[in-house]
Amino acid sequence: MKYKRHTVTAALPYANGPVHIGHLAGCYLPADIYVRYLRSKGEDVKFICGSDEHGVPITIKAKKEGITPQQVVDKYHKIMGDAFREFGISFDIYSRTSSKIHHETASEFFKTLYDKGVFEEEITEQYFDEKANQFLADRYIIGTCPKCGNENAYGDQCENCGSTLNATDLINPKSTLSGEKPVLKKTKNWFLPLDKMQPQIEAYIDSHKDWKANVYGQCKSWLNAGLQPRAMTRDLDWGVKVPVDGAEGKVLYVWFDAPIGYISATKELFSNPKSEIRNPKSSDWELYWKDKETKLVHFIGKDNIVFHCIIFPAMLMAEGSYIVPENVPANEFLNLEGDKISTSRNWAVWLHEYLLEFKDKQDVLRYTLCANAPETKDNDFTWKDFQAKNNNELVAILGNFVNRTLVLTHKYYDGNVPTAAEYSKNDILLLEEITKYPAKIAASIEQYRFREALSELMNLARSGNKYLADNEPWKLINTDANRVKTIMNISLQICANLTIVMEPFLPFTAKKLGTMLNLNLGLKWNDATRTDLLLAGHKINTASLLFEKVEDEQMEYQVTKLSNSKMENELANNKSEVTPQKPEITFDDFSKMDIRVGTILEAERVPKTDKLLKLKIDTGIDIRTVVSGIAQYYKPEDIIGQQVSILVNLAPRMLKNIESRGMILCSENEKGELSFVSPTKPNTNSGSIIK
Ligand code: MF3
Ligand code: ZN
Repeated sequence: MKYKRHTVTAALPYANGPVHIGHLAGCYLPADIYVRYLRSKGEDVKFICGSDEHGVPITIKAKKEGITPQQVVDKYHKIMGDAFREFGISFDIYSRTSSKIHHETASEFFKTLYDKGVFEEEITEQYFDEKANQFLADRYIIGTCPKCGNENAYGDQCENCGSTLNATDLINPKSTLSGEKPVLKKTKNWFLPLDKMQPQIEAYIDSHKDWKANVYGQCKSWLNAGLQPRAMTRDLDWGVKVPVDGAEGKVLYVWFDAPIGYISATKELFSNPKSEIRNPKSSDWELYWKDKETKLVHFIGKDNIVFHCIIFPAMLMAEGSYIVPENVPANEFLNLEGDKISTSRNWAVWLHEYLLEFKDKQDVLRYTLCANAPETKDNDFTWKDFQAKNNNELVAILGNFVNRTLVLTHKYYDGNVPTAAEYSKNDILLLEEITKYPAKIAASIEQYRFREALSELMNLARSGNKYLADNEPWKLINTDANRVKTIMNISLQICANLTIVMEPFLPFTAKKLGTMLNLNLGLKWNDATRTDLLLAGHKINTASLLFEKVEDEQMEYQVTKLSNSKMENELANNKSEVTPQKPEITFDDFSKMDIRVGTILEAERVPKTDKLLKLKIDTGIDIRTVVSGIAQYYKPEDIIGQQVSILVNLAPRMLKNIESRGMILCSENEKGELSFVSPTKPNTNSGSIIK
């Protein structure tokens, strides 16, 4: 079916931190390529995004930084919007969910479902912090994980063992707001009965077997597990107020309001008299959301699949007047130098920093991220690969071809496009090949295979490069000047075609090349099937290099920056893992312990145990037997004569029928391995006091 128009969205990023390369590769870059391609095809498309400014992570960030949630989102909304724009992500609008129009839109949407009787009201017991006088979101509760014993598991998840939890599963739950034990309190919330909607949703998913395997597979596994009703309201004070009576202190669930953000942003786009749309009619937004001839596509990362493929479509179906997503091309995750990207561990390449450190090199990052996009599986970004892609592909293939062509055109023809004389057989084959690229690249893009599309684009540049290398115009110029005109004419045509088909991927370079070629600005995608875009006699402008080599020093700087953040993290982590200090004691308490230097005279394994050694120690006071749990760390024969610290006045204990009189002091490292605490000067007398 041919669509009249397209609504393309990219996941609204949470406004609690800046954008990193993982976000870009996962969703914003493919979305931008797709939209730029559609525009080049002359399609009617609106590209929608904005900041997701509600939800618990934002309130937590605000608490941590000692500012209000509004201040948090104001800060990051600006950083993200600026960075996207500078990177060439060509949203038609970058809106935000704290805006008035969004609160109204989300509120109305909820009200419509409420009035239709879609929701089920349910009273459940939720944890409540009596001291802070508020209900606690899952992230505000920590406690011991029932699965692995981690004492700092969250109410929704244990980050140690990865289990998904319910707050009520936690052993010894504690509120992170007050540190108090929360109490269970009854509260009313409104649930979307996904269980009852399952047949409808199942039919919808089943009609989309064409979706990417990772997306379709995840949907099926949710459906197979059986959908559960899900609360669409929360007891929280940051978000869109629930617009019904008896809902004081409640807001819409962030995953209810955020996707409606796509709708409110579209509304805003059409109601803004300053927008680029000519004569916007504020009612026109509806065409982009309600007309069957609109293709709605959501670009997201894989952690968003269920929300966009099941919950949001269910909301849209329940409302009744909307279209549903036609495709949800979710990517997997991008890792960084072999490690999961993490905002809290500062393990990321931040877009705003990249833009400062690599001035005017947006396209190099766009190229690398697209060439390596995690389309079907998680993938890794490394600086080494970034450098290689720039130097060996952008510089050596694309840049080299264009530069040779333009430089020779200036040298031989003073910048005028020469007339092609007679085409050779190979010329004709090449010209035929060239005309096929737009359709090939388009087919890949339309199937959301952007890596494949990009590699086809590079194949076009490769063909050009090979053509020059095979024909060597710089040699022929002395013997067959006429032939050189044809070669250069064809090479110039390829440059022109490249300008068009590279634009979605490398918009900055396309612009630069278009200017150098003095190309007609209004050219569209299908014009790239022609081989006469530059007419004989057309004057081109001065040439400059499209790409520069990335030097080793630049890469070393980046790698060092990353290893520094790793080190800082390890320091921070080690700190938090150290056992807290015990309660204070007096000097008298300490003096009660009689610790001496002792010398090991004999050592043997205690039979039928793994851990115990039986030691005979010269304490200076006497010679006595001590049983010590060090057998995994010391061999008996190795420690004869070793000096150790021994607590001599510890009450005797029976261990495996042996009376142990005293305790050998050991330090324990992070792996739990024990080692003696010994005097650092050799031959200290046995019996010397340790104080
Ligand atoms: N803020 C979410 C995230 O970063 C995405 C929200 S997408 C929307 O994972 F559809 F809800 F807007
Ligand atoms: Zn756990």
